[in-house]
Amino acid sequence: MEEMCGSGREYMNFCREDTIMAIIDKIIAQAKSNVKHIVLPEGEETRNIQAARKIADAGIAKLTVLGDPEKVKAVAAETNTCLCGIEIVDPKTSEKAASYASALYELRKAKGMTEEEAARKVQDPMFYGVMMVKMGDADGLVSGAIHSTGDMLRPALQIIKCKPGIKTVSSCFMMESPIEEYGVMIFSDCAVIPNPTAEELANIAVAAAESARTLAGIEPKVAMLSFSTKGSAKHDNVTKVQEATRLAREFAPELKLDGELQLDAAIVPSVGALKAPGSEVAGHANVLVFPDLQAGNIGYKLVQRFGKAEAYGPILQGIAKPCNDLSRGCSVDDIVATVAITAVQAQ
Ligand code: ACO
Repeated sequence: MEEMCGSGREYMNFCREDTIMAIIDKIIAQAKSNVKHIVLPEGEETRNIQAARKIADAGIAKLTVLGDPEKVKAVAAETNTCLCGIEIVDPKTSEKAASYASALYELRKAKGMTEEEAARKVQDPMFYGVMMVKMGDADGLVSGAIHSTGDMLRPALQIIKCKPGIKTVSSCFMMESPIEEYGVMIFSDCAVIPNPTAEELANIAVAAAESARTLAGIEPKVAMLSFSTKGSAKHDNVTKVQEATRLAREFAPELKLDGELQLDAAIVPSVGALKAPGSEVAGHANVLVFPDLQAGNIGYKLVQRFGKAEAYGPILQGIAKPCNDLSRGCSVDDIVATVAITAVQAQ
């Protein structure tokens, strides 16, 4: 079956021919420069298997897929996909299951988990995959083609937890606009915290700025978005964003960050100069922090659908080790891109 394998060169050509994917090409190149080990818990699913082939061929990551080997092989055979170079682990028969179960029990016994429950949980590929990352047997995890966002996030939040010094895991989307003046921007939080407090919103802003630097390679200018600019409207929701702006400045005094700003004041130079004169962010923001998940989730989809921007994410930020979610409507190339992003986060 060796001849069925493609090559990394083919994948890169495929990217360039199909869409403008400059930022993802850069991320793929970075992932290849220092190869990390990523686990795909949804190994019995067709798109995961096809993506695994492309990732292995392009040398983007070392891969382990989880599942019953017979089922994984049957799924691969349906699409004539070669599994060479891809490790398959069955959580139900793995020799590591017992040690993962005892580590999981130690981590969660204070929350009421019993030894029997821990042994049962690690047979679930989602939990087994998270334990691989926790125990250092993989550098990162990508899942969500068949799990809901909540079902994917909960084990990661419970077991892997926040980076030291960070109190809140959140997410961002890397948006690549076809409009040159906007280019690559970070939108946050669009997937995790439904109704953040002012402190959580400040944490989201600081984490999004770090994502801008490490993933998008841009120097962050952070706008704390609202329906008000600099007190133009009065409402509890505006007060929350003002308080978050104050806290974010306290948490990261060196950061270029301003708020509260309306979207046009944040990204249109003439409006920014008019509504927030003297601001070093207004009119030039490249990191947009939304006041809550309704605004963030709707906002990124508007830009993706009406603005024809590429949307990469949700990318978890603030988590101790990289775990990323997929949309259940994801394509094979979305999985490839998410694995590359996860691998770069692991570097
Ligand atoms: N940061 C850090 N830890 C967290 C966070 C967070 N943001 N949220 C929950 N936790 C921790 C809790 O402290 C808890 O830890 P513990 O058990 O050790 O005490 C654990 O995670 C579970 O917490 P719960 O409160 O029981 O979890 P909850 O049921 O609230 O689920 C979740 C958390 C999954 C993130 C939830 O907030 C959620 O569903 N968010 C929305 C997800 C979603 O549907 N997004 C939109 C779709 S995605 C898209 O369109 C791209």
